[in-house]
Amino acid sequence: MDQERGRLRVINIAHRGARSLAPENTLVAAAKAQEVGADLWETDIGVSADGQLILFHDDSLARTTDAQKRFPDRAPWYFTAFTLAELRTLDAGSWFVNADPFGEIAAGQVSLAEQEAYHGEPIPSLREALIFTRERDYRVNVELKQLPAPLQSFPLVERVLTLIDELGLTDQIVISSFVHEWLRELHARRPQIKIQALIGYSEQEPLDWGKLEFKSYNARSTLIDERQIRAVSQQGIAVNLFVVNEESQMRRFSAAGAAGLITDYPQRLAALLHEGVKR
Ligand code: G3P
Ligand code: MG
Repeated sequence: MDQERGRLRVINIAHRGARSLAPENTLVAAAKAQEVGADLWETDIGVSADGQLILFHDDSLARTTDAQKRFPDRAPWYFTAFTLAELRTLDAGSWFVNADPFGEIAAGQVSLAEQEAYHGEPIPSLREALIFTRERDYRVNVELKQLPAPLQSFPLVERVLTLIDELGLTDQIVISSFVHEWLRELHARRPQIKIQALIGYSEQEPLDWGKLEFKSYNARSTLIDERQIRAVSQQGIAVNLFVVNEESQMRRFSAAGAAGLITDYPQRLAALLHEGVKR
């Protein structure tokens, strides 16, 4: 019936939280994403110098924190060179208000109260992020990032599983990674935890679906077309796409059968899906 009415159905996944509306990979961004209608929030895992799991995307702290000002002699400010205690003193929110990276502040989409509240927002630990998610009716897509050379032997899968077990949130977490070996290990150890294989690390190379061994793939949207989405989906495999920000692309990929869209604009996708409901 939904099909007959032309309703689009797709899982709304907020890339690094609602990063067009709030500082990425913080709990305020995760909360904002849920407020505007995201089903899940996506985030990236990093490891501090003392082996603690945190949320962070870039290798360097420079773009999204005040590390340069606070620790001027620690260039290039790789987060892996800072202890959790040091990281926790950083302001991961003010840069967003100053830079307005998506122009949403200028467009009037971020209230003055919100802008004020973003100042001083900390880098979350993974533990905090999982507790935050557990306490809401919410889900998180945790991306396990490839670790830099000094951390090659860090037991990332082990540490993430220990935390998930301790906090008991199997149903509210999905784990994705470009490192498919980690996903195989995760699946072998905890088959009940949902996993998503990221593909399309390089924008220059075609998507490598491997032997389609996973039930769910997160593919780079610029490397896929409707035919591929349909072909893979018809085999019972979920195709999620990153990063889809334009409404026309949201419509196109949803209509082609994408299971989920990872977007910097969960508010835009939510409005589009809501419009479908009303039609
Ligand atoms: O999960 C999709 C996307 O997050 C992968 O790219 O660099 O934003 O983590 P990145
Ligand atoms: Mg990511």
